[in-house]
Amino acid sequence: MEFLVGSGAPETQRSACVVAGVFESGKLSPAAERIDQISEGALDKILRRGDMQGKLGQTLLLHSVPDMPCERVLLVGCGKETEFDENNYRKATAAATRLLNDTGATDMTSYLPELEVKGRDVAWKVRLAVETTAETLYRFEQLKSQASDERNPLGKVILMVPGRNDVAAGQTAVEEGRAVSAGVALAKDLGNLPGNICTPSYLAEQALALQDQAPIKTTVLEAADMQALGMGALLSVARGSRQPAKFIIMEYAGGRKDEAPTVLVGKGLTFDAGGISLKPAEAMDEMKYDMCGGASVLGALKAIAELKLPLHVIGVIPSSENLPDGNANKPGDVVTSMSGQTIEILNTDAEGRLILCDALTYTERFNPEAVIDVATLTGACVVALGAHASGLLGNDETVVSELLKAGREAHDRAWQLPLWSDYQEQLDTNFADMANVGGREAGTITAACFLSRYAKKFKWAHLDIAGTAWKRGKEKGATGRPVALLTRYLINRAQRPKKRQQAGPTD
Ligand code: BES
Ligand code: MN
Ligand code: ZN
Repeated sequence: MEFLVGSGAPETQRSACVVAGVFESGKLSPAAERIDQISEGALDKILRRGDMQGKLGQTLLLHSVPDMPCERVLLVGCGKETEFDENNYRKATAAATRLLNDTGATDMTSYLPELEVKGRDVAWKVRLAVETTAETLYRFEQLKSQASDERNPLGKVILMVPGRNDVAAGQTAVEEGRAVSAGVALAKDLGNLPGNICTPSYLAEQALALQDQAPIKTTVLEAADMQALGMGALLSVARGSRQPAKFIIMEYAGGRKDEAPTVLVGKGLTFDAGGISLKPAEAMDEMKYDMCGGASVLGALKAIAELKLPLHVIGVIPSSENLPDGNANKPGDVVTSMSGQTIEILNTDAEGRLILCDALTYTERFNPEAVIDVATLTGACVVALGAHASGLLGNDETVVSELLKAGREAHDRAWQLPLWSDYQEQLDTNFADMANVGGREAGTITAACFLSRYAKKFKWAHLDIAGTAWKRGKEKGATGRPVALLTRYLINRAQRPKKRQQAGPTD
């Protein structure tokens, strides 16, 4: 899909379709108003007939609008003007894309970015239009034996900004939106692939393949390497599986290589049956998404490489399956992590933290500027925050607040939960340094408490994406979250003035 930025009046656009908004009160957007004037009241007449009430997501496709050179005009309902917020902007954009994709239109010229979304500038609206369009057109059809008969003629989207002086900002926004969308699509594809295809080896291959497209260097550690490093927690999970575990390291050195890197750690559990603490059968298929943290790390790296951000970023993905087996972890087993701390495994289904803790210890060698781990870690997070916000906890308030801000800007939001020391004692056990579970209460927090014990040597934050990484229902599938949040965080980081190496003259 080609995205362009333009400005100018709708009656000068010779495109296949001009898209303009209408509110529920019958109020026309500026572009629709202009079309109405040019066509001598054609839109007004239609609205009065009652064919378009301006309800959010409603669409009306018009052909041969008088004195308009475009082939079609698509009116999109935007709901109540006072309620027109980020979500409604995305819904209106998605509705237009969905409808046009079902017509013969090969391109569209959308005036939706001219609509006022409180607190958002033109660049934001362009960026989100690109991401929402890509999101709407995404299909996962790799595993269908026959190609779908969808025609998808839409090949070009021109996003119209209010003035000529907005075009440059709009073009940067298109670049960012495209990069994020490419990262999101990669994360979705990996998430949607089933456990029999997307194994730890497959994930490692994808990480290696990324090297050919981007200035990224990938290294994959095998079980023997992990053994030598003493990754006893990670390897204990992998013992129950026939698929060899992989430890994937990806380095993107877009900045100075000696710059302390930001490290992204992603849970790459390619199928989580729970192990001996077996999960119930219902919806167990969803546990193929348990590698979405790892997939979002791959996606974010792809996005920042496309944007050529001047940053040093390292992605680390510990990858394994978690299955019941004669060799699998048993409740009560005690293992020694790479940090030397011992863990009593009281529930083999709390495996994410076991593979992540060794990955966190491993990142110490990079002297990181900050470490952010991303994981579908707890069902408790789905109960607490649902599908709308990722859970966020950390040991550094600056990193946490930067991530919260990036989430708001990317409209891929996170919500902070407390990581107070009060919760730590839930992990106490008399048989090892800690238990791997902390009881029913505050499950997301005690999981983060567990990880915090392996993140003492650096600034660290943890995103629990159990509720946000995929959606259920008829349109089930991976969402690609939080690629947009992570990418935004890194873009902001790249724009931040570099710390002075030495105190220089103060003039
Ligand atoms: N991958 C799951 C977490 C999960 C559950 C994600 C449901 C999405 C939806 C994780 O490995 C897990 O099983 N966590 C347990 C922890 C518990 C045993 C302390 C959970 O949340 O039930
Ligand atoms: Mn589990
Ligand atoms: Zn899991």
